[in-house]
Amino acid sequence: MSKQRRIPQHVAIIMDGNGRWAEQRGMERYEGHAAGIEPIRASARAAIRHGVGHLTLYAFSTENWGRPAAEVDALMELFCQCVIHETPDMQRQGIRIRTIGDRSRFSEKVQAHLAQAEEQTAGGDKLTLLLALNYSSRDEIVRAVRKIAGRVAAGTLAPEAIGEQTLAGALDTAGVPDPDLVIRTSGECRLSNFLLWQASYAEFYFPQVLWPDFTEEEFDRAMEEYARRDRRFGLVADK
Ligand code: FPP
Repeated sequence: MSKQRRIPQHVAIIMDGNGRWAEQRGMERYEGHAAGIEPIRASARAAIRHGVGHLTLYAFSTENWGRPAAEVDALMELFCQCVIHETPDMQRQGIRIRTIGDRSRFSEKVQAHLAQAEEQTAGGDKLTLLLALNYSSRDEIVRAVRKIAGRVAAGTLAPEAIGEQTLAGALDTAGVPDPDLVIRTSGECRLSNFLLWQASYAEFYFPQVLWPDFTEEEFDRAMEEYARRDRRFGLVADK
């Protein structure tokens, strides 16, 4: 093999299928979410092994507040437990935890745990793990436009100076490279309000496996599939 294998700089995952995984086993939905923690560990390990710099996980959308209260409460508790128990190990592995989304709607307890995890892992230089929490792309874009409008109203930004970089810089993902690969597990082929701006030129991969069954080997398969893709960014193929 003469060509060096192409590695995505940023992989983003829609972790779908926890509920179905639980239902298939006669378990409660929250047990499916709890079973979704090991695949997070596995994906982070695999991302580091492959040299992927950024991994974004869609953990809770702005729409997910509409789920039954017991499921939302269980997810909030899971976020806290996960952050408390996983942070030391992530710190050891050189993982930096960040979040995207509007955290202000979470309880003070959840916000405090997230802030602590970010602080403790701030020095991580192997992988940036972005947790999308109370996130939706449209909400992110609206919040970004508000920030830009504020600068225009204050007279510090001229409307004609607004370009793609202005918007990209006002998004929660400012400074993060666009995802090269978006994976959605469980066979569903939808973006569901996830990174709509950032995924403009991403490759998409939709494995059938439900999220709790997503292993390091599944991540490896996604990397193999990505390496086979011909990315042209609106140009013509290299000769
Ligand atoms: C989608 O599956 C999954 C979620 C809405 C929650 C994902 C959250 C975790 C795996 C826990 C993550 C924890 C941290 C700290 C990041 P679904 O419930 O929509 O599955 P279904 O489509 O089969 O019903």
